[in-house]
Amino acid sequence: MISEPSSNDNSSAQTNSQPWSPASWRTKTAHQQPRYRDGLALADVENQLSTLPPLVFAEETRQLRRELAEVAEGNAFLLQGGDCAESFVDFSADNIRDTFKVILQMAIVLTYAGRKPVVKVGRIAGQFAKPRSADTEVRDGIELPSFRGDIVNGPEFTPEAREVDPQRMLRAYHQSTATLNLLRAFAHGGLADLHQVNGWNLGFVSGNEQCEQYQQLAHEIRDALSFMQVMGITSENTPVLRETDLYTSHEALLLNYEEALTRRDSMTGHWYNCAAHMLWIGERTRQLDAAHIEFMRGIHNPIGVKVGPSITGDELLRLIDALNPNNEAGRLTLITRMGADVLGEKLPELARRVTQEGRKVVWSSDPMHGNTVKASNDFKTRSFDRILMEIQQFFQVLRAEGAHPGGIHLEMTGQRVTECVGGAYRVSEADLANRYRTQCDPRLNADQVLEMAFNVSELLR
Ligand code: PEP
Ligand code: CO
Repeated sequence: MISEPSSNDNSSAQTNSQPWSPASWRTKTAHQQPRYRDGLALADVENQLSTLPPLVFAEETRQLRRELAEVAEGNAFLLQGGDCAESFVDFSADNIRDTFKVILQMAIVLTYAGRKPVVKVGRIAGQFAKPRSADTEVRDGIELPSFRGDIVNGPEFTPEAREVDPQRMLRAYHQSTATLNLLRAFAHGGLADLHQVNGWNLGFVSGNEQCEQYQQLAHEIRDALSFMQVMGITSENTPVLRETDLYTSHEALLLNYEEALTRRDSMTGHWYNCAAHMLWIGERTRQLDAAHIEFMRGIHNPIGVKVGPSITGDELLRLIDALNPNNEAGRLTLITRMGADVLGEKLPELARRVTQEGRKVVWSSDPMHGNTVKASNDFKTRSFDRILMEIQQFFQVLRAEGAHPGGIHLEMTGQRVTECVGGAYRVSEADLANRYRTQCDPRLNADQVLEMAFNVSELLR
Protein backbone atom coordinates (compact mmCIF):
# COMPACT_ATOMS: atom_id res chain seq x y z
CA MET A 1 0.00 0.00 0.00
CA ILE A 2 2.88 2.34 0.73
CA SER A 3 5.65 2.76 -1.81
CA GLU A 4 9.11 4.19 -1.37
CA PRO A 5 9.80 7.90 -1.62
CA SER A 6 11.23 9.22 -4.85
CA SER A 7 12.51 12.69 -4.27
CA ASN A 8 12.14 13.93 -7.83
CA ASP A 9 8.38 13.52 -7.89
CA ASN A 10 6.49 16.72 -7.30
CA SER A 11 2.99 15.90 -8.48
CA SER A 12 1.27 15.62 -5.15
CA ALA A 13 2.00 18.80 -3.24
CA GLN A 14 -1.44 19.71 -2.04
CA THR A 15 -0.74 23.37 -1.71
CA ASN A 16 0.77 26.17 -3.76
CA SER A 17 2.07 25.99 -7.30
CA GLN A 18 5.72 25.55 -6.27
CA PRO A 19 6.96 21.99 -6.78
CA TRP A 20 7.08 19.95 -3.61
CA SER A 21 8.95 16.78 -2.75
CA PRO A 22 9.80 15.13 0.58
CA ALA A 23 13.24 16.75 0.16
CA SER A 24 12.21 20.24 -1.01
CA TRP A 25 12.62 21.59 2.53
CA ARG A 26 16.38 21.31 1.93
CA THR A 27 16.30 24.42 -0.25
CA LYS A 28 15.03 26.50 2.72
CA THR A 29 16.48 27.59 6.02
CA ALA A 30 15.92 24.82 8.55
CA HIS A 31 15.85 26.11 12.13
CA GLN A 32 16.63 24.03 15.22
CA GLN A 33 18.52 21.29 13.36
CA PRO A 34 21.60 19.52 14.77
CA ARG A 35 24.86 19.82 12.86
CA TYR A 36 25.85 16.33 11.80
CA ARG A 37 29.60 16.25 11.33
CA ASP A 38 29.82 13.12 9.20
CA GLY A 39 27.65 13.59 6.11
CA LEU A 40 28.25 10.05 4.90
CA ALA A 41 27.18 8.50 8.19
CA LEU A 42 24.05 10.67 8.11
CA ALA A 43 23.20 9.69 4.53
CA ASP A 44 23.68 6.03 5.42
CA VAL A 45 21.16 6.28 8.26
CA GLU A 46 18.70 8.21 6.08
CA ASN A 47 18.94 5.48 3.44
CA GLN A 48 18.30 2.78 6.00
CA LEU A 49 15.31 4.62 7.44
CA SER A 50 13.83 5.19 4.01
CA THR A 51 13.66 1.43 3.38
CA LEU A 52 12.28 0.44 6.80
CA PRO A 53 8.55 -0.27 7.14
CA PRO A 54 6.21 2.64 7.88
CA LEU A 55 4.87 2.93 11.43
CA VAL A 56 1.36 3.87 10.39
CA PHE A 57 -0.80 3.35 7.33
CA ALA A 58 -2.17 6.16 5.22
CA GLU A 59 -5.77 4.99 5.71
CA GLU A 60 -5.45 5.28 9.50
CA THR A 61 -4.20 8.79 9.00
CA ARG A 62 -7.17 9.62 6.78
CA GLN A 63 -9.46 8.22 9.46
CA LEU A 64 -7.94 10.59 12.02
CA ARG A 65 -8.41 13.44 9.58
CA ARG A 66 -12.10 12.61 9.27
CA GLU A 67 -12.43 12.50 13.05
CA LEU A 68 -10.68 15.86 13.38
CA ALA A 69 -13.11 17.28 10.81
CA GLU A 70 -15.84 16.36 13.31
CA VAL A 71 -13.88 18.18 16.02
CA ALA A 72 -13.66 21.26 13.79
CA GLU A 73 -17.47 21.17 13.43
CA GLY A 74 -17.96 20.91 17.19
CA ASN A 75 -19.16 17.29 17.12
CA ALA A 76 -16.17 15.73 18.88
CA PHE A 77 -13.35 16.73 21.24
CA LEU A 78 -9.59 16.26 20.80
CA LEU A 79 -7.42 15.01 23.65
CA GLN A 80 -3.71 15.09 22.79
CA GLY A 81 -1.12 14.30 25.42
CA GLY A 82 1.99 12.55 26.56
CA ASP A 83 5.59 13.22 27.48
CA CYS A 84 7.35 16.43 26.61
CA ALA A 85 10.12 14.17 25.33
CA GLU A 86 10.22 10.40 25.21
CA SER A 87 13.55 9.02 26.34
CA PHE A 88 15.71 5.97 25.73
CA VAL A 89 16.30 5.24 29.44
CA ASP A 90 12.62 5.49 30.45
CA PHE A 91 11.50 3.10 27.72
CA SER A 92 9.46 0.34 29.39
CA ALA A 93 6.18 -1.52 29.04
CA ASP A 94 4.99 -0.10 32.37
CA ASN A 95 5.54 3.46 31.22
CA ILE A 96 3.69 2.89 27.97
CA ARG A 97 0.82 1.14 29.76
CA ASP A 98 0.48 3.91 32.33
CA THR A 99 0.46 6.63 29.69
CA PHE A 100 -2.15 4.68 27.72
CA LYS A 101 -4.33 4.25 30.81
CA VAL A 102 -4.17 7.85 31.89
CA ILE A 103 -5.12 9.10 28.40
CA LEU A 104 -8.02 6.64 28.30
CA GLN A 105 -9.17 7.49 31.78
CA MET A 106 -9.21 11.19 30.98
CA ALA A 107 -11.00 10.49 27.69
CA ILE A 108 -13.75 8.54 29.47
CA VAL A 109 -14.38 11.38 31.91
CA LEU A 110 -14.53 13.87 29.02
CA THR A 111 -16.74 11.66 26.85
CA TYR A 112 -19.17 11.09 29.68
CA ALA A 113 -19.35 14.79 30.57
CA GLY A 114 -19.35 16.18 27.05
CA ARG A 115 -21.56 13.51 25.49
CA LYS A 116 -19.32 13.66 22.45
CA PRO A 117 -16.68 11.29 21.09
CA VAL A 118 -13.16 12.08 22.27
CA VAL A 119 -10.41 11.71 19.67
CA LYS A 120 -7.32 10.41 21.49
CA VAL A 121 -3.89 11.34 20.17
CA GLY A 122 -0.72 10.50 22.14
CA ARG A 123 2.48 12.51 22.13
CA ILE A 124 4.10 9.12 21.87
CA ALA A 125 5.93 6.63 19.62
CA GLY A 126 8.17 9.28 18.06
CA GLN A 127 8.18 12.37 20.30
CA PHE A 128 11.95 12.59 20.71
CA ALA A 129 13.34 15.76 19.11
CA LYS A 130 13.35 19.01 21.11
CA PRO A 131 13.82 22.64 20.05
CA ARG A 132 16.13 24.63 22.33
CA SER A 133 16.46 28.29 23.17
CA ALA A 134 20.28 28.18 22.74
CA ASP A 135 22.65 26.05 20.66
CA THR A 136 25.00 25.51 23.57
CA GLU A 137 24.78 25.10 27.33
CA VAL A 138 27.37 26.41 29.81
CA ARG A 139 27.95 24.80 33.22
CA ASP A 140 30.81 25.83 35.51
CA GLY A 141 32.57 27.57 32.66
CA ILE A 142 32.33 24.54 30.33
CA GLU A 143 30.37 24.97 27.09
CA LEU A 144 28.79 22.00 25.29
CA PRO A 145 26.15 21.60 22.57
CA SER A 146 22.60 21.70 23.98
CA PHE A 147 20.66 18.45 24.46
CA ARG A 148 18.19 18.20 21.56
CA GLY A 149 16.35 15.03 22.54
CA ASP A 150 17.46 11.39 22.52
CA ILE A 151 16.98 11.13 18.76
CA VAL A 152 19.85 13.64 18.36
CA ASN A 153 22.26 13.43 21.33
CA GLY A 154 22.38 12.46 25.02
CA PRO A 155 21.23 14.47 28.05
CA GLU A 156 24.33 13.94 30.21
CA PHE A 157 26.61 16.95 30.40
CA THR A 158 29.69 15.34 28.82
CA PRO A 159 31.27 15.98 25.40
CA GLU A 160 30.62 12.33 24.41
CA ALA A 161 26.91 12.42 25.28
CA ARG A 162 26.33 15.76 23.62
CA GLU A 163 27.96 14.62 20.39
CA VAL A 164 25.32 14.50 17.66
CA ASP A 165 24.96 10.91 16.42
CA PRO A 166 22.77 9.91 13.42
CA GLN A 167 22.58 6.29 14.68
CA ARG A 168 20.22 7.62 17.35
CA MET A 169 17.57 8.09 14.65
CA LEU A 170 17.53 4.33 14.08
CA ARG A 171 17.19 3.67 17.79
CA ALA A 172 14.32 6.17 18.02
CA TYR A 173 12.63 4.48 15.05
CA HIS A 174 12.88 1.05 16.66
CA GLN A 175 11.71 2.32 20.04
CA SER A 176 8.75 3.97 18.30
CA THR A 177 7.78 0.74 16.51
CA ALA A 178 7.91 -1.25 19.75
CA THR A 179 5.89 1.42 21.55
CA LEU A 180 3.26 1.53 18.84
CA ASN A 181 3.07 -2.24 18.76
CA LEU A 182 2.20 -2.33 22.45
CA LEU A 183 -0.27 0.55 22.13
CA ARG A 184 -2.08 -1.29 19.36
CA ALA A 185 -2.22 -4.42 21.53
CA PHE A 186 -3.61 -2.43 24.46
CA ALA A 187 -6.17 -0.64 22.29
CA HIS A 188 -7.51 -3.81 20.68
CA GLY A 189 -6.49 -6.59 23.04
CA GLY A 190 -8.81 -5.96 26.00
CA LEU A 191 -7.11 -3.35 28.18
CA ALA A 192 -9.44 -0.66 26.83
CA ASP A 193 -12.60 -2.65 27.67
CA LEU A 194 -15.06 -0.29 29.32
CA HIS A 195 -15.95 -3.10 31.71
CA GLN A 196 -12.48 -2.72 33.19
CA VAL A 197 -12.87 0.97 33.81
CA ASN A 198 -13.19 0.54 37.56
CA GLY A 199 -9.94 -1.38 37.61
CA TRP A 200 -8.02 1.56 36.26
CA ASN A 201 -7.74 3.73 39.27
CA LEU A 202 -3.94 3.74 39.38
CA GLY A 203 -4.01 3.60 43.18
CA PHE A 204 -5.62 6.89 44.17
CA VAL A 205 -5.42 7.72 47.83
CA SER A 206 -8.76 6.52 49.11
CA GLY A 207 -11.05 9.13 50.61
CA ASN A 208 -9.61 11.66 48.21
CA GLU A 209 -12.24 13.75 46.44
CA GLN A 210 -11.11 12.85 42.90
CA CYS A 211 -11.06 9.19 43.76
CA GLU A 212 -14.67 9.32 44.90
CA GLN A 213 -15.76 11.29 41.85
CA TYR A 214 -14.02 8.80 39.61
CA GLN A 215 -15.58 5.81 41.44
CA GLN A 216 -18.98 7.44 41.08
CA LEU A 217 -18.46 7.86 37.36
CA ALA A 218 -17.16 4.30 37.01
CA HIS A 219 -20.27 3.13 38.85
CA GLU A 220 -22.57 5.03 36.44
CA ILE A 221 -20.79 3.54 33.44
CA ARG A 222 -21.08 0.04 34.95
CA ASP A 223 -24.81 0.58 35.42
CA ALA A 224 -25.17 1.61 31.81
CA LEU A 225 -23.18 -1.44 30.72
CA SER A 226 -25.30 -3.85 32.76
CA PHE A 227 -28.42 -2.37 31.23
CA MET A 228 -26.94 -2.87 27.76
CA GLN A 229 -25.97 -6.42 28.65
CA VAL A 230 -29.57 -7.20 29.55
CA MET A 231 -30.45 -5.91 26.09
CA GLY A 232 -27.88 -8.25 24.54
CA ILE A 233 -25.14 -5.66 23.87
CA THR A 234 -21.84 -7.06 25.18
CA SER A 235 -18.08 -6.69 24.69
CA GLU A 236 -18.17 -9.95 22.75
CA ASN A 237 -20.62 -8.76 20.13
CA THR A 238 -19.90 -5.01 20.24
CA PRO A 239 -16.27 -4.06 19.56
CA VAL A 240 -16.66 -0.39 20.54
CA LEU A 241 -17.13 -1.52 24.14
CA ARG A 242 -13.81 -3.31 24.25
CA GLU A 243 -11.62 -1.50 21.74
CA THR A 244 -10.45 2.01 21.16
CA ASP A 245 -8.23 3.99 18.82
CA LEU A 246 -5.23 5.83 20.10
CA TYR A 247 -3.47 7.79 17.38
CA THR A 248 0.17 8.89 17.58
CA SER A 249 1.76 12.31 17.09
CA HIS A 250 4.98 14.19 17.56
CA GLU A 251 6.62 17.49 16.68
CA ALA A 252 8.00 17.19 13.14
CA LEU A 253 11.25 18.87 14.09
CA LEU A 254 14.15 16.72 12.89
CA LEU A 255 13.54 16.93 9.16
CA ASN A 256 16.12 14.32 8.08
CA TYR A 257 14.12 11.75 10.04
CA GLU A 258 10.71 12.98 8.91
CA GLU A 259 11.72 13.00 5.24
CA ALA A 260 13.06 9.44 5.41
CA LEU A 261 9.73 8.19 6.77
CA THR A 262 7.60 10.02 4.23
CA ARG A 263 6.11 7.64 1.68
CA ARG A 264 3.75 7.79 -1.23
CA ASP A 265 0.41 6.06 -0.75
CA SER A 266 -0.25 3.86 -3.74
CA MET A 267 -4.03 4.14 -3.36
CA THR A 268 -4.25 7.92 -3.63
CA GLY A 269 -0.82 8.90 -4.94
CA HIS A 270 -0.49 11.31 -2.01
CA TRP A 271 2.52 11.65 0.26
CA TYR A 272 2.14 10.77 3.91
CA ASN A 273 4.53 11.03 6.79
CA CYS A 274 4.33 7.45 8.04
CA ALA A 275 6.22 8.08 11.31
CA ALA A 276 2.99 9.18 13.04
CA HIS A 277 -0.67 9.83 12.30
CA MET A 278 -0.46 13.51 13.18
CA LEU A 279 2.53 15.88 13.18
CA TRP A 280 2.82 19.39 14.46
CA ILE A 281 5.06 22.40 13.87
CA GLY A 282 6.55 23.99 16.98
CA GLU A 283 6.38 27.62 17.99
CA ARG A 284 10.05 28.11 17.06
CA THR A 285 9.91 26.62 13.57
CA ARG A 286 6.76 28.07 12.00
CA GLN A 287 8.45 30.80 9.90
CA LEU A 288 6.50 31.00 6.63
CA ASP A 289 9.50 30.95 4.30
CA ALA A 290 11.45 28.27 6.16
CA ALA A 291 11.96 24.51 5.92
CA HIS A 292 9.36 23.16 8.35
CA ILE A 293 6.41 24.85 6.62
CA GLU A 294 7.79 23.69 3.30
CA PHE A 295 7.96 20.08 4.45
CA MET A 296 4.57 20.06 6.16
CA ARG A 297 2.63 21.67 3.33
CA GLY A 298 3.18 18.63 1.11
CA ILE A 299 2.27 15.77 3.42
CA HIS A 300 -1.37 14.78 3.67
CA ASN A 301 -1.49 13.91 7.37
CA PRO A 302 -3.57 16.03 9.71
CA ILE A 303 -1.15 18.58 11.10
CA GLY A 304 -0.98 21.03 13.96
CA VAL A 305 0.83 24.30 14.44
CA LYS A 306 1.66 25.92 17.75
CA VAL A 307 0.37 29.48 18.04
CA GLY A 308 2.18 31.63 20.60
CA PRO A 309 1.46 35.14 21.85
CA SER A 310 3.57 37.04 19.30
CA ILE A 311 1.51 36.10 16.22
CA THR A 312 -0.76 38.66 14.54
CA GLY A 313 -4.08 37.94 12.86
CA ASP A 314 -2.57 38.50 9.39
CA GLU A 315 0.34 36.18 10.10
CA LEU A 316 -2.02 33.52 11.36
CA LEU A 317 -4.13 33.69 8.21
CA ARG A 318 -1.04 33.39 6.01
CA LEU A 319 0.06 30.40 8.05
CA ILE A 320 -3.36 28.76 7.71
CA ASP A 321 -3.39 29.36 3.97
CA ALA A 322 0.10 27.94 3.51
CA LEU A 323 -0.81 24.76 5.37
CA ASN A 324 -4.46 24.30 4.40
CA PRO A 325 -5.01 26.15 1.11
CA ASN A 326 -8.12 24.11 0.25
CA ASN A 327 -9.67 24.97 3.63
CA GLU A 328 -10.44 21.35 4.49
CA ALA A 329 -11.80 20.67 7.96
CA GLY A 330 -9.60 18.18 9.84
CA ARG A 331 -6.37 19.09 8.06
CA LEU A 332 -5.21 21.81 10.45
CA THR A 333 -5.26 22.17 14.22
CA LEU A 334 -4.22 25.47 15.76
CA ILE A 335 -2.65 24.76 19.13
CA THR A 336 -2.65 27.95 21.18
CA ARG A 337 0.04 28.30 23.88
CA MET A 338 0.06 31.78 25.24
CA GLY A 339 0.13 31.69 29.02
CA ALA A 340 -2.75 32.22 31.42
CA ASP A 341 -2.11 35.99 31.59
CA VAL A 342 -1.88 36.60 27.86
CA LEU A 343 -4.42 34.30 26.23
CA GLY A 344 -7.46 36.33 27.23
CA GLU A 345 -5.90 39.38 25.59
CA LYS A 346 -4.57 37.84 22.37
CA LEU A 347 -6.95 35.05 21.44
CA PRO A 348 -10.16 37.06 20.85
CA GLU A 349 -8.70 38.95 17.88
CA LEU A 350 -7.20 35.81 16.35
CA ALA A 351 -10.38 33.79 16.78
CA ARG A 352 -12.45 36.61 15.30
CA ARG A 353 -10.25 36.86 12.20
CA VAL A 354 -10.22 33.11 11.59
CA THR A 355 -14.01 32.88 12.04
CA GLN A 356 -14.75 35.96 9.91
CA GLU A 357 -12.55 34.66 7.11
CA GLY A 358 -14.32 31.30 7.23
CA ARG A 359 -11.21 29.19 7.85
CA LYS A 360 -11.99 25.65 9.03
CA VAL A 361 -9.64 24.73 11.85
CA VAL A 362 -9.59 22.79 15.07
CA TRP A 363 -8.79 25.06 18.01
CA SER A 364 -6.85 23.22 20.69
CA SER A 365 -5.31 24.57 23.89
CA ASP A 366 -1.77 23.76 24.98
CA PRO A 367 -1.93 25.30 28.47
CA MET A 368 1.56 24.05 29.34
CA HIS A 369 4.18 25.92 27.31
CA GLY A 370 3.10 29.46 28.12
CA ASN A 371 3.07 28.73 31.85
CA THR A 372 6.56 27.39 32.52
CA VAL A 373 8.40 29.06 35.41
CA LYS A 374 11.46 28.48 37.52
CA ALA A 375 10.70 27.55 41.14
CA SER A 376 12.75 29.14 43.92
CA ASN A 377 14.78 25.91 44.11
CA ASP A 378 15.59 26.21 40.39
CA PHE A 379 13.31 23.40 39.17
CA LYS A 380 11.42 24.21 35.98
CA THR A 381 7.77 23.85 36.92
CA ARG A 382 4.18 24.76 36.03
CA SER A 383 1.28 25.50 38.32
CA PHE A 384 -1.83 23.32 38.04
CA ASP A 385 -3.99 26.35 38.71
CA ARG A 386 -2.49 28.43 35.92
CA ILE A 387 -2.76 25.52 33.49
CA LEU A 388 -6.44 25.21 34.35
CA MET A 389 -6.90 28.98 34.11
CA GLU A 390 -5.54 29.02 30.55
CA ILE A 391 -7.92 26.22 29.55
CA GLN A 392 -10.88 28.02 31.13
CA GLN A 393 -10.06 31.24 29.27
CA PHE A 394 -9.61 29.31 26.04
CA PHE A 395 -13.16 27.94 26.34
CA GLN A 396 -14.58 31.28 27.30
CA VAL A 397 -12.92 33.28 24.51
CA LEU A 398 -13.71 30.84 21.71
CA ARG A 399 -17.33 30.48 22.75
CA ALA A 400 -17.68 34.25 22.92
CA GLU A 401 -16.31 34.45 19.35
CA GLY A 402 -18.68 31.78 18.08
CA ALA A 403 -15.89 29.22 17.59
CA HIS A 404 -15.53 25.71 19.06
CA PRO A 405 -13.02 25.05 21.81
CA GLY A 406 -12.04 21.77 20.16
CA GLY A 407 -9.40 20.18 22.32
CA ILE A 408 -6.55 20.22 24.77
CA HIS A 409 -2.88 19.34 24.37
CA LEU A 410 -1.14 18.31 27.60
CA GLU A 411 2.29 17.24 28.73
CA MET A 412 1.45 14.41 31.09
CA THR A 413 2.54 11.02 32.32
CA GLY A 414 0.95 8.02 34.00
CA GLN A 415 3.84 8.04 36.48
CA ARG A 416 3.53 9.58 39.93
CA VAL A 417 6.09 12.31 39.37
CA THR A 418 6.32 15.67 41.14
CA GLU A 419 6.97 18.16 38.36
CA CYS A 420 3.96 20.50 38.31
CA VAL A 421 2.92 22.26 41.53
CA GLY A 422 -0.55 22.88 42.99
CA GLY A 423 -3.93 21.25 42.48
CA ALA A 424 -5.89 19.23 45.02
CA TYR A 425 -2.81 17.15 45.79
CA ARG A 426 -0.93 20.31 46.78
CA VAL A 427 2.42 19.43 45.25
CA SER A 428 4.67 22.17 46.66
CA GLU A 429 7.93 23.60 45.39
CA ALA A 430 9.69 21.65 48.13
CA ASP A 431 8.14 18.41 46.78
CA LEU A 432 9.60 18.92 43.31
CA ALA A 433 12.91 17.30 44.30
CA ASN A 434 11.15 14.05 45.32
CA ARG A 435 10.25 12.61 41.93
CA TYR A 436 11.35 15.03 39.24
CA ARG A 437 11.96 12.73 36.27
CA THR A 438 11.31 14.66 33.06
CA GLN A 439 14.07 15.03 30.50
CA CYS A 440 12.61 18.29 29.36
CA ASP A 441 9.43 20.10 30.50
CA PRO A 442 7.39 19.42 33.69
CA ARG A 443 4.41 17.08 33.19
CA LEU A 444 1.11 16.64 34.99
CA ASN A 445 1.19 13.37 36.94
CA ALA A 446 -1.51 10.70 36.85
CA ASP A 447 -3.48 12.23 39.74
CA GLN A 448 -3.24 15.73 38.33
CA VAL A 449 -4.41 14.50 34.91
CA LEU A 450 -7.55 13.03 36.40
CA GLU A 451 -8.15 16.16 38.44
CA MET A 452 -7.76 18.18 35.24
CA ALA A 453 -10.20 15.84 33.50
CA PHE A 454 -12.91 16.60 36.09
CA ASN A 455 -12.27 20.33 35.78
CA VAL A 456 -12.39 20.28 31.99
CA SER A 457 -15.54 18.16 32.10
CA GLU A 458 -17.22 21.05 33.95
CA LEU A 459 -16.43 23.20 30.92
CA LEU A 460 -17.83 20.62 28.49
CA ARG A 461 -21.14 20.12 30.24
C1 PEP B 1 6.51 21.12 22.96
O1 PEP B 1 5.35 20.89 22.61
O2 PEP B 1 7.17 20.32 23.68
C2 PEP B 1 7.12 22.41 22.58
C3 PEP B 1 8.43 22.57 22.50
O3 PEP B 1 6.20 23.36 22.37
P1 PEP B 1 6.30 24.81 21.70
O4 PEP B 1 6.77 24.59 20.29
O5 PEP B 1 4.89 25.30 21.79
O6 PEP B 1 7.25 25.62 22.52
CO1 CO C 1 7.47 20.64 26.16
